[in-house]
Amino acid sequence: MSELTRIIQERQSARTPFDPSLPISKEHLKQILEASRWAPTAHNMQNYEIVVVDDKALLEKIGNIKSRISEEFLRENYQQLSFSKEELQKKKTGILGTMFPPDWVDPAKIAEVASKAAPMPLTQSIRGSPTLLIIIYDSTKRAPASHGDVLGFMSLGCIMENIWLMAQSLGISLQILSTFAAPPVEVEIRKLLGIPEHIKIAYACRLGYPTSAAKYFRVRRDIEDFTHYNQFGTRKP
Ligand SMILES: Cc1cc2nc3c(=O)[nH]c(=O)nc-3n(C[C@H](O)[C@H](O)[C@H](O)COP(=O)(O)O)c2cc1C
Repeated sequence: MSELTRIIQERQSARTPFDPSLPISKEHLKQILEASRWAPTAHNMQNYEIVVVDDKALLEKIGNIKSRISEEFLRENYQQLSFSKEELQKKKTGILGTMFPPDWVDPAKIAEVASKAAPMPLTQSIRGSPTLLIIIYDSTKRAPASHGDVLGFMSLGCIMENIWLMAQSLGISLQILSTFAAPPVEVEIRKLLGIPEHIKIAYACRLGYPTSAAKYFRVRRDIEDFTHYNQFGTRKP
């Protein structure tokens, strides 16, 4: 197996707490930022900026911002869930429902849970991370003729993957936090970090070193499940 294949396959979302006393070194941070520089972007727009947050007081302030789980999230989350390893292995897509509180994965309770859900502080998402990377973009610009700036968003995804693979190669764990991009959290974070209104948050990366083993059961479709040769539906070359 090539080194690159190994890094690609071993990269995974880190959903366990990180040790706040283990910082990301300046050298490693530089390598991660360097990896972002060379990501492909539509028209080479390089339509992103990165706010590195490693100041303890600021991390604490961000951690105090509260977000509330929405009914939309709970309903659409449910559609991606499996409830046993066997089911997940068979489906080959989605995630295990055991990752979430039992109430979140009971379709009969979703509306009630959403209406009664207490706002949760972001500290429960940051979970000890000593460094957050907040990936932001200028919402007033777009790739040429790219409706809805689809190409711009794909480009932000390329940045994500370069950052993630470099972190993985350095032994640094990473979790994407989409909640940073959702209102009202996004607005609060922009205020705290002095980010102008037209610059939006795409996502945040939580970097760090897990306090406990972080491997979990992951599945993927097989090559023949998604590959078509010359004609849609022709599964074999
Ligand atoms: C655009 C995007 C947004 C994501 N948002 C989140 C998120 O908010 N929280 C989270 O834990 N994982 C998030 N993920 C990670 C995916 O859930 C994860 O990549 C997927 O379940 C496959 O698992 P793996 O990363 O361990 O291979 C996101 C991934 C992408 C590409």
